[in-house]
Amino acid sequence: MIKIIKSNDIFAKWKGDALLYLLTEETCAAKTHGETRVNILAERGDFKGKAGSVARVPLFDGLVNNLYLAGLGKAEKSDANLLGALTSALRKIGKERNKSVLIILGDDTPFSNEQSVIIGEAAELCGYSFDKYKKKEDGDDIFSIKEIFVRSFDAASAQKGQIFAASQCLARDLSNEPGNVINPPILADISEKFAAERNITCEVWDEKRLAEEKMLALLSVGQGSETPPRLIHLTYKPKTHRKKIVFVGKGLTFDSGGLDLKPSEFMKTMKGDKSGACNVLGVLDGASALGLDLEIHGILAAAENMPSGHALRPDDIIRARNGKTIEIDNTDAEGRLVLADALCYASELKPDVIIDMATLTGACAVALGSWTSGLFTSDDELAKSLMSSSKARGERLWRLPMDDEKIGESLKSKFADIVNSGSRYGGATFAAMFLAEFVEKDIPWAHLDIAGPDFIKEESGVLARGASAFGVRLCLDYLTNL
Ligand code: BES
Ligand code: MN
Ligand code: ZN
Repeated sequence: MIKIIKSNDIFAKWKGDALLYLLTEETCAAKTHGETRVNILAERGDFKGKAGSVARVPLFDGLVNNLYLAGLGKAEKSDANLLGALTSALRKIGKERNKSVLIILGDDTPFSNEQSVIIGEAAELCGYSFDKYKKKEDGDDIFSIKEIFVRSFDAASAQKGQIFAASQCLARDLSNEPGNVINPPILADISEKFAAERNITCEVWDEKRLAEEKMLALLSVGQGSETPPRLIHLTYKPKTHRKKIVFVGKGLTFDSGGLDLKPSEFMKTMKGDKSGACNVLGVLDGASALGLDLEIHGILAAAENMPSGHALRPDDIIRARNGKTIEIDNTDAEGRLVLADALCYASELKPDVIIDMATLTGACAVALGSWTSGLFTSDDELAKSLMSSSKARGERLWRLPMDDEKIGESLKSKFADIVNSGSRYGGATFAAMFLAEFVEKDIPWAHLDIAGPDFIKEESGVLARGASAFGVRLCLDYLTNL
């Protein structure tokens, strides 16, 4: 982890590579900043404090090499903009060969506890990239920040933020690995190693055990692949624990669509269809690093959806763990099948809350776009807590309905208890209502459809190219507030 250090020097006396000022539009307009160079740049109109804008001023004498100004936008929005603005600025600073940076808020006001969490998150996220398979060429940007100095902040809060973000980076690293590197048995091996390095236990069910355990929905999704499915059960159980929470993750190490093969432009990036499972692993990592006094289970439903002579067919009828029969309408609606068995199992653990994360439907991405995930729950209290964590961590959630009776009726099959897909209209709600068939009714449960923000094409703010691991920080925030 990057070192975040308390600096006793005032900014005029600090010696290092870069000074970074975080400025609102109001501070710039007033031109009464303690740093005259900020006022001059504002006077000339070179820097207005617009959200996300970053300016670099190279210095040729004195104690520092570069002065950076980063805009927080309008004062009323500045807290919401802080994470994105700070991460973008630090990423740029890191790519411009600065090893040390002093962060200054406005006119050297102290960072609040909540702002300190954000400093920690930005510090860990600013240098993230998935480049392990790429040869470094001369002139490539190499992220150089080693130390971040802050004058007045809360170190414990910053450390919490660093853990949130480090766990998110761990989830990104896993999700970014392609399908030829991570298949379900490999994901199980990685999970076992992950658990062994922490105070976490891991139990893996192979295809034989899955059959004994009546997890035929999960098995059927994986039956077309050369690599068989796995159910991975991670448990973090400290001596004292106030509540039991179960996280369930969709772990499709690759989703080709199966016999209902995806067109090539939609198949690309489907290595990321295991993000829900990777996120769950990230949440367990954070929970154990934070030493939370909660019993936390992670259930990863891992399979590869491939077409072959063994593959699941449209029209097939399968039986899930709770005995319900499912008619396959479309083999590309596979996430809900693996989750069905995993949610039955989660319910059997009799937890206080179940939360699942899944790159479940293109429909959710169409409805909400690339920066917002769908939240589905019939529990208003759980919705409220998750929305508040979503806001605090800057991971946008929007609550979508799952009480639509007409869509509920369309779940009925002529030949089985339910069917796995229906109309394109309301596809995200259909999927959520399908999942509800496998969750014990009296357990508070939330489903996060992360299909939209899961895979990032162009870096911006906290997001780097590739997997975002969207949801890890918000779930950890939720846990720390329980
Ligand atoms: N993994 C996909 C959903 C997805 C789409 C995730 C785009 C990320 C980006 C899922 O398994 C899927 O294929 N869903 C189908 C369901 C349909 C066949 C009912 C979809 O959304 O088209
Ligand atoms: Mn699919
Ligand atoms: Zn899928």
